[in-house]
Amino acid sequence: MALIKCPKCGYEEETTGLVTVCPKCKADLSQVMAEIGKTGKRTQGLVKDDSVTTHEYIVRTKDLVKEYTMGDTIVRALKGVALDVRRGEYLSIMGPSGSGKSTLFNMVGGLDKPTSGTCFIEEVDMAQLDAFELAWLRCRKIGYIFQSFNLIPVMTALENVTLPMIFAGMSTDEMMERGRTLLDLVGLGDRLHHKPFELSGGQQQRVAVARALANSPAIILADEPTGNLDLQTGKEIIDLLKELNVESGVTVISATHDLKMIDVSDRIVHIRDGDVERIERREDLDLQIGDLGSETGI
Ligand SMILES: Nc1ncnc2c1ncn2[C@@H]1O[C@H](COP(=O)(O)OP(=O)(O)OP(=O)(O)O)[C@@H](O)[C@H]1O
Ligand SMILES: [Mg+2]
Repeated sequence: MALIKCPKCGYEEETTGLVTVCPKCKADLSQVMAEIGKTGKRTQGLVKDDSVTTHEYIVRTKDLVKEYTMGDTIVRALKGVALDVRRGEYLSIMGPSGSGKSTLFNMVGGLDKPTSGTCFIEEVDMAQLDAFELAWLRCRKIGYIFQSFNLIPVMTALENVTLPMIFAGMSTDEMMERGRTLLDLVGLGDRLHHKPFELSGGQQQRVAVARALANSPAIILADEPTGNLDLQTGKEIIDLLKELNVESGVTVISATHDLKMIDVSDRIVHIRDGDVERIERREDLDLQIGDLGSETGI
């Protein structure tokens, strides 16, 4: 946690780092948060795994277990997942509905905590981070893309893309320039001031991709990014993610039911019933995606 102090009324509060207005007088605190964000407080609570000497793996999970308690019933959504993801890899996670893909994402993305087991991001044990450090890591290291786009409806494309940059402490000029560059990159340079409802589904997902790239993350976590898109638009988003993966080296981890995704993946992790069933490498697959896609309309 970080202690913030409102410059206007002096109110102090412990926060995870995602507060933008003073809870008491409603003064704008983004500048205060930006200063804290720049400092980054990276030294406390970071426990490195000494058994690993290289940074070959950007994400590692060990015996990851997640249980949800529903009244008297315990749902074991993850049953000891061990998964190593190499830096720069494009990894697809496939599995039937309810197999635990989104749950795994929430653990890797620091959006929820495992019941037991460990998740390392760049060999840092996420469980050892305090709330502020976790917010810092989520803001700087990971870009999130969801099936339902999750854009803020009242904000323009540019405002949606620049929002995470506020938390990273970027200046307004820098934010605007980077926001425009990113929207250009995803082919929406002429839609900067459109709100989500003024954009097509595919365009909204492009905005979400640009937003995920806002703070130059090392990892993009995409949970069924093509789930709400038609065939052609889905293909465009997959191609865009692959292009970013190849050109900027960002690691892409994507949960998907979309077989088109296999074509661009370095490895495919099959999850079943809360555990890794098998892992395939792209080069070992003899699946002809083109044929499959056109036949089945997936
Ligand atoms: N918040 C929750 N509370 C209780 N049970 C949950 C919760 N979230 C998920 N589950 C259960 O955990 C299991 C895994 O769910 P999860 O959402 O991870 O599946 P999934 O593989 O992402 O499925 P889909 O392909 O449909 O998105 C399911 O049995 C689900 O019912
Ligand atoms: Mg899911």
